[in-house]
Amino acid sequence: MTIPQDYQFLIAFANEARKRAYVPYSNYPVGAALRTTSGRIFTGVNVENAAYPTTMCAERVAVYKAVSEGEREFEIIAVVTDNGGSPCGGCRQVLAEFGLDTIVLMADGEGRLVLETTIGKLLPEAFTPKHLPRKAD
Ligand code: THU
Repeated sequence: MTIPQDYQFLIAFANEARKRAYVPYSNYPVGAALRTTSGRIFTGVNVENAAYPTTMCAERVAVYKAVSEGEREFEIIAVVTDNGGSPCGGCRQVLAEFGLDTIVLMADGEGRLVLETTIGKLLPEAFTPKHLPRKAD
């Protein structure tokens, strides 16, 4: 499979970030790189905690960093794990808030693209802001 150069770049970015994952409990580092439609890239890593449920996933860290910097339009996110793992349900929901067309790349620790898909495909019939009578800005 030929991987577009910008896909490869984003995957490499996520894989580099992955080195900074804080994973003393699972030893499963995850790196994410989220590109906005304006071309900015925000990385994220999973940050675990001794109180396990307070752990935060890499994808959500990237989204929250971007939103807190004023970005809400996302084009693509690359997610890198040792074995090409898939974004969890919570991360799918958080990404769906900002658009179902966001492309999702899943890659393994060698930088190999395992799957290219979209949030809409990962979360069919998603509950989104349009389901609420009023959408707060
Ligand atoms: N994890 C992520 O960072 N993203 C996902 O979408 C799936 C799971 C993290 C959470 C935890 O630190 C580790 O992977 C094992 O579940």
